Parts: sequence; structure tokens; C-alpha cells
Amino acid sequence: MTTIAVIGLGTMGLGIVQTWAAAGFDVLATDTHEPARATAQARLLAALTPRVEAGKMGPSDRDAILARVRIVADLSMLQGADLAVEAVVERLEVKQALFAKLEQHLGPGAILATNTSSLSVTAIAGGLRHPERLLGLHFFNPAPVMKLVELVSHPAASTDALTRARAITEAAGKTVIQCPDRPGFIVNRCARPFYGEALAMVEEVRSPLDIDAAMMAAGYRLGPFALIDLVGADINLAATESLFAAMDRHPRYHVFDALRAQVAKGDLGRKSGTGFVFPQKPGAPPADADAIVLRIEAALINEAAWLLSEGGTTREWIDTALKLGLNFPRGPFEMQARHGAAIETELARLEARAPAHLTSRYLPPTG
Ligand code: NAI
Repeated sequence: MTTIAVIGLGTMGLGIVQTWAAAGFDVLATDTHEPARATAQARLLAALTPRVEAGKMGPSDRDAILARVRIVADLSMLQGADLAVEAVVERLEVKQALFAKLEQHLGPGAILATNTSSLSVTAIAGGLRHPERLLGLHFFNPAPVMKLVELVSHPAASTDALTRARAITEAAGKTVIQCPDRPGFIVNRCARPFYGEALAMVEEVRSPLDIDAAMMAAGYRLGPFALIDLVGADINLAATESLFAAMDRHPRYHVFDALRAQVAKGDLGRKSGTGFVFPQKPGAPPADADAIVLRIEAALINEAAWLLSEGGTTREWIDTALKLGLNFPRGPFEMQARHGAAIETELARLEARAPAHLTSRYLPPTG
């Protein structure tokens, strides 16, 4: 019987607890913040109730899930876990200190996993006595719903830990895509141009509603601005700034003033009541919708090509990750197949007219 330990009972931790408990695993979970421990069972119940009310889950299944979860007071009580996943605050020194303690409490066969979205997994593993058993398991929010988990490897990770972590995560119904320990992994990195190129067009005085309408007509469930409004412009800005810094301020990750201005105004999207487009809905696509889609998809394809050129992943993995992680109707390499030679021409056109601060943004990888 496999037991999962989860450390951190915030948004992600609780979702990860639910994911494995719903798949029949025993789960031990803890948090340093006493109220987070005290409310965890009630929050889990609240998360499951709508499924029961909608008839998607019986009350006995709900009770069985709750019964499989044991909230414990501290790390020493996680002994016996086969896999421990942390979803604590996103700070390197906190995660390093946590894993150093976990190493003492968990048996040598236990796998340690971090749910970090922006820290280096190599750096987190660095201070451990046994870095080979640490890896990244990057869930997406909401964890019980989103199918994708990025399995992040690093040079010291053991094949055995990677294989077992994959099997246990797949047993919870997830699609596991392995990716290299590069900033943003696959999804958060390859998503940048979806927003960035749309923001570039807004700075050229295109309307966000027109851009969203064009993308929706091309099969995207949400346009870039509706997606920023859903997640929050502040969250999107933080993710963009983090990747810009991690990628040596390359113009492909440029932080557009239009995004900064939106955050400065407090127009963060749904949570503030107004965003780039929220509460409006896009209307009919503009006459040049195809050109808008070509431009954004060209930038998406280029970013995916750069990631591929750095090694550690494949076209299929990138396509699958973007379809599952962002609900894209097709992955970047499938976009490439649709557009053909038009992509190279579009990237060359964009590079030729790029303003000084975006010079080399559109250059494809060589070789
Ligand atoms: P959160 O703020 O909702 O929850 C963090 C929890 O960790 C809190 O309950 C806090 O009391 C607890 N905590 C802090 N330090 C601790 C420690 N040393 N030991 C035990 N518990 C501790 O944060 P959230 O959003 O759940 O994020 C957690 C992690 O998941 C972060 O690394 C974040 O980057 C990552 N992540 C977040 C996603 C999101 O959409 N929110 C998506 C994917 C990854």
C-alpha cells in the first residue's frame, strides 16, 4: 500500500491531497500553520460537496476520501510515506530547510518531490545528503481537475525515483510529462508568447477584445486577455518578471508596459472586477483575425523550438503539455504543421520591424 505525504495545506497542497486520496491512496498531510491543519478536513469536505450535489460522487465515496486523509502535527509523523510532496511557500531557503528535515524522518526509499513553479529543482536538491531521490512534481491549479503534471528531472535525479514518481502520479489519473529543470519548465515558459505577443499588439494600439475574438475563432477556449483576467494580471506579471530574470532578460520574455500599467491601475481582472476585457465578452472576430493568430502562433512555435533546442524534451511532450496545461486546441508543433513556411516568413517580418527593445525577440534557434 502506497502512502503519500503532503506538506503545505494551502491551495495547491490541499488539491494534491484530494487528488491522491480520491485515487485510493492513504495520505498524511501537515502544515506549520495550525489553522491550516485545523481547517484542512473541512476545506476538503467543502471541495468535495459540489461533486456530491451534482451527482458525480456518492456520499460514501466522499466519506471514504476524507477517511483516507490524516492531518498530522509535524514532519516526524510522516514516517512511512513512500512519496512526500511539498507545496509550501515559494522560497528556496524554506524548501531546502524542509527537505533537509524530511531526509531525517523518511526512510531511504522514500521519494521527495517539490511542487515549485519557479525555483530550480537542482538548487532545491543541492543541499541534500541524497539529492538523487528528489525531483519536481509540478501540478496545475486546480490540482484535482488539471490532468497534467510536469515531472522535473535534474542531473543528480535517479532513474528509479523518476520511474516510481511517474507511476504513482499516473495512478492518480494524471498525464505525466517529464521536462528538464529549465526556468518555467515546459508550460509556464512556452505560454509566455501567448500573452507577450498579444500585449505587443495592444502596445501597437490593437484592442484586447479583437485579439481575444481572433484567438477564440481559431479554437482557443479563452483569448490571452480573458486568461490574464481569469488568473489575475498581478500573477501574470510576477510569472513574466520571474522568467525574464531567469532567462537573462532576453527580449523573448520582455515584460510589456501594458501589463505593468494594468497592475499599477489595479485592474487585475475578475478578482478586482475589471481587467483587460473582463467583464466584457469578445464579439465577432476582426477582418484580420488570421493575421493576429499567425503572429501569436509564430511566437509560440518559436519559443517551443528554442526549448526543444536546449534538450531534455520532445515535440510530442511540448504539444501535450500545452494542450493539457493551458487548454490549447493544439500544441506548438501541431501549429507549425498547419502554418508551414508562413511561420518563418512571419518571424522574419516581425524581427525586421521590431523596435530596439525587442531586437532579436523573433530570431529562431539555429541548427
Ligand atoms: P499557499 O500560500 O496557498 O499555501 C502554502 C502553505 O504552506 C500555507 O498553508 C503555509 O502555512 C504552508 N507553509 C509555509 N511554510 C511551511 C513550512 N515550512 N512547512 C509546512 N508548511 C508551510 O500557496 P500555494 O499557492 O498552494 O503554493 C504552494 C506551492 O505550490 C508554491 O511552491 C507554488 O509556487 C506552487 N504552485 C502554485 C500554483 C498555484 O497556482 N497557486 C501552481 C503550481 C505550483
